[in-house]
Amino acid sequence: MMKVLGIFGSPRRGGNTDILLEEALRGAEKEGAKVERLYLTDFNITPCIECHGCDQTGKCVILDDMQRIYPKLLESNIIILASPIFFYGVTGYTKALIDRSQALWAKKYLLKNPSSKIKRRGFFISVGATKGEKLFNGAILTVKYFFDTFDAEYGGELVFRGIEGKGDILNHPEALQQAFETGRRLVLGMKEGQSHLKKGGIR
Ligand SMILES: Cc1cc2nc3c(=O)[nH]c(=O)nc-3n(C[C@H](O)[C@H](O)[C@H](O)COP(=O)(O)O)c2cc1C
Repeated sequence: MMKVLGIFGSPRRGGNTDILLEEALRGAEKEGAKVERLYLTDFNITPCIECHGCDQTGKCVILDDMQRIYPKLLESNIIILASPIFFYGVTGYTKALIDRSQALWAKKYLLKNPSSKIKRRGFFISVGATKGEKLFNGAILTVKYFFDTFDAEYGGELVFRGIEGKGDILNHPEALQQAFETGRRLVLGMKEGQSHLKKGGIR
């Protein structure tokens, strides 16, 4: 069973990225995936305190809600992270989660013990109010580096400029449609990859 984890990184419930991610998850469900929704505002995630407590173990020493999220990241085949742009980056909620993946980075790069038992793919959804060409560049770099810590191959992003008020994305039905199709395609793509593997294909 294909497992999809949707991470809702906006503090605004029912806002634009929430709506888009929900569409993507509905698309994934349509293709038979088992979907879990994770709203970061429901979790208390302390920022990384740079204690290097994970360097020797690959495990974070801070015993907060993030401890429940690590296994979810590792058990999922597809991780769709949604965050609006706040000051050219992801939201604080999202960044706290990402910085805490330092433990996974340590496991992979210091302890040379990658988390790659199952095939994973990561995807990013974002919106911003302004229209600049570089609006998403910072966030995309951050998210790519995050996915790499647990060997989720970067599957791309779906981003929309000029979206500001709560629910404004609803005025763009083509965006919702794209999000739905993205969820479907991610699941179909992973299924295809797996059947190639089973057939002893080249990958
Ligand atoms: C603290 C804060 C910082 C923001 N920074 C930016 C920014 O740097 N660039 C931008 O285009 N929009 C920025 N925005 C606007 C949001 O990205 C925009 O309203 C978005 O639609 C919110 O998505 P949501 O409904 O999913 O929370 C910011 C909003 C807030 C509250």
